[in-house]
Amino acid sequence: MRHVVTLVIGLLVGAILAITALRTLNARKDAYPEALMNVMKHELVAANEAATKPACNENAHALDKLTLLTGDILTAMPDEGAPDRVFHQYVSNLHDKAIAASQSDCTQRKQALTEIKHACDDCHRDYR
Ligand code: HEC
Repeated sequence: MRHVVTLVIGLLVGAILAITALRTLNARKDAYPEALMNVMKHELVAANEAATKPACNENAHALDKLTLLTGDILTAMPDEGAPDRVFHQYVSNLHDKAIAASQSDCTQRKQALTEIKHACDDCHRDYR
């Protein structure tokens, strides 16, 4: 009986310590970068959906937001790669592609959106 009680107490203490450790680790992780990326993904999906409709410029709003959010990448991840030139280059490349897409006409819209996707992938390949 004593062993069972010891075992149960041991398990309880272990569980409490594990939960405390997890909480501490989660609190330390900054939610901003992931949140920003997920919103950008959402806007890109919205823009792609709109591009399949005849009036492809319904996605102007999504592309404007994407352009604005791109400007936040450096705020959200200031030390990513100890802010180096390449990271900045990827950010400005994405920014240019987002502007180009918002100014493209309907026949070029899908291609412009594909180029945005490539600009996302370029940075993820090196930094994610
Ligand atoms: C300049 C670099 C850069 C660009 C450009 C970039 N990303 Fe990211 N992305 C990252 C990094 C770094 C991470 C990893 C962040 C982390 O785990 O904290 C990431 C993670 C993500 C994630 C996963 C987030 C999560 O929940 O873990 C998504 C989704 C994402 N990016 C979408 C996009 C989309 C869509 C674009 C283009 C519109 C884009 N990203 C452009 C650097 C970039």
